[in-house]
Amino acid sequence: MTVTARHTRIAGTGSALPPRRLSNADLVRQLAADGIETSDEWIVERTGIRARHFVDAGVNASDLAVQAARHALEAAGCAAEDIDLIIVATSTPDMVFPSTAAIVQRKLGVQGCPVFDVQAVCSGFVYALTVADAMIRTGSADTALVIGAEVFSRILDFKDRGTCVLFGDGAGAVVLRASDTPGIVATDLHADGRHVDILCVPGTVSGGQILGDPLLRMDGQAVFKLAVGVLESSARTVLERTGRRPDQVDWLIPHQANIRIMQATARKLKLPPERLVVTVDAHGNTSAASIPLALDVAVRDGRIREGHTVLLQGVGGGFTWGSVLIDF
Ligand code: ACO
Repeated sequence: MTVTARHTRIAGTGSALPPRRLSNADLVRQLAADGIETSDEWIVERTGIRARHFVDAGVNASDLAVQAARHALEAAGCAAEDIDLIIVATSTPDMVFPSTAAIVQRKLGVQGCPVFDVQAVCSGFVYALTVADAMIRTGSADTALVIGAEVFSRILDFKDRGTCVLFGDGAGAVVLRASDTPGIVATDLHADGRHVDILCVPGTVSGGQILGDPLLRMDGQAVFKLAVGVLESSARTVLERTGRRPDQVDWLIPHQANIRIMQATARKLKLPPERLVVTVDAHGNTSAASIPLALDVAVRDGRIREGHTVLLQGVGGGFTWGSVLIDF
């Protein structure tokens, strides 16, 4: 009996950014009006961020997710009705419940397939991709839509200059298809709940009221130190699992939080800086959306081509981290 192995391939990518773009200069002016002092120099030197996009009132994560999904479906040559699984990675859902994935499903006009959200903050997309890959390989799905979508502007404290300059809104999506040939070749996920407090939105809704602080809080230096170490070790894990060397990675797409974290990871893996896909300068940190946004940019501008090996790496609140190694 011949057993044909099922694999997962990326059939198409897409992304969406809200039209309202704020350069550092725009944000510096806006913050100064409220007595908060920062500068383009500080933001660029410490983070590499030059601009971010923010949604207008009334636009939710599902709206960005649907735009990104439509672009990914078009790139894959796939109709929304062909989708038999939708996973949305988000920490800024439209509602407490139902899932943003259910809202996306309704907006795409499809019914019946399983849909759910994954909440792993900035690692959400690599978590969602790993789950979708497992469901495709075991035959639970043939064509999956995996989306990272965030409206972090809704949870920023614009009086805290240490965090409000770092984040932006956006969405990225991929269409995954079952295939005889490998696409996703290895995945690696981790979490360490001892670090819940270093990056969190501690508030919650209870009895019709907000209990606790509903805005993003971060110990930036603690996040920085943890991030560099775990990204390197997770990269080595997926490479070792497939018997590959770091120099066989054509493109490294880490979570776009801070250019210094990304460059430090590339240096530790001895990857030349040209192989790093960087969008943090133009998008800021869009949490679960940052990896699929950067992936879509590099696919559409022709950097990522068939035959290339791409390493996606997430790291974020929880503390969570992980990698997905993909042959395109
Ligand atoms: N403008 C000007 N000065 C500022 C600003 C600002 N926007 N923010 C902080 N400062 C000041 C501080 O007040 C402090 O001043 P002081 O020395 O007079 O007290 C000084 O700059 C240094 O502050 P630090 O917080 O120590 O600055 P640091 O060099 O650590 O940079 C940063 C801060 C950029 C947040 C850095 O720690 C970092 O990038 N950490 C990782 C954060 C990250 O990647 N988070 C996301 C990952 S997970 C996720 O995406 C959800």
